[in-house]
Amino acid sequence: MAVFASGDGTPVGLCAVAGRAYAPGRMASTHQTDARTGGLRVHLLPAHVPAGALGGSTVIVIDALRASVTIAAALQAGACTVMPVLSVDEAMLLAGRLGASSPVVLGGERGGVRLPGFDLGNSPAEYTAESVGGRVLVFTTTNGTRALLHADGAARILVGSLPNRRAVCAAAAEHGGSIQILCAGTDGGVSMEDALTAGALVESLGGEGIGMSGDDTARLCLEAWRAAASSGEAGVLDAFRRSAGGRNLLELGMGSDIALCARADWLDVAPEFDVSTRGLRR
Ligand code: MLT
Repeated sequence: MAVFASGDGTPVGLCAVAGRAYAPGRMASTHQTDARTGGLRVHLLPAHVPAGALGGSTVIVIDALRASVTIAAALQAGACTVMPVLSVDEAMLLAGRLGASSPVVLGGERGGVRLPGFDLGNSPAEYTAESVGGRVLVFTTTNGTRALLHADGAARILVGSLPNRRAVCAAAAEHGGSIQILCAGTDGGVSMEDALTAGALVESLGGEGIGMSGDDTARLCLEAWRAAASSGEAGVLDAFRRSAGGRNLLELGMGSDIALCARADWLDVAPEFDVSTRGLRR
């Protein structure tokens, strides 16, 4: 595994420095309007919303299968930060550069499969205290990290999924202002698993007093979620397995990841992007 550490093995560089510099919610301090008046919107694809239209909002990025879950799992397992990057080359360069001062792990996928030379793929189950604890994770995926970086410029960027639904909704509601949910989709197409997860978040945010302000996409996602969830966990899992992302994973023999990603509230972290370090932290 490509882990880089100081001579005595203690995490150095980005892990230590960013840990001190980071203050959750700091980016939101200029954006204190009431969430109840700010409203809630859902975008089913990054292409449906120009990046500029996300400015001033808290954006929750969803790639339900699997990048959102993997990022949250890595942070819950003790990764000190997750650095999302667009391309494989960029990931390798960044890992090499950060590796001079921090212990680094390279993770991600193309076509759902771990990349040559990478330490880890995109299965949340791979991200344990042993594999990522105390390390910087440099991470690139086909759609998820792309959607995340599309939201650059928002007041706050959070990463949401069913497993961290409760944590991310609480974090989103904390600071006020409008909330926009941005689904990653799959290769430019709308993904059912993202839309269902968006609906679950809309429902939870409703419980926090945040309304949909007439957004029909949010309403559509909520109704789809309620239809799936009316048959309990089995109904949600079945819908995930029938989705585009779910079918891809089944073909790859990664069905167990679908079950992990379709189960709500087993991760207690709300990954938030820090513009100053370009990393996600819990
Ligand atoms: C993506 O970013 O496209 C996904 O997370 C793909 C995957 O499930 O590996």
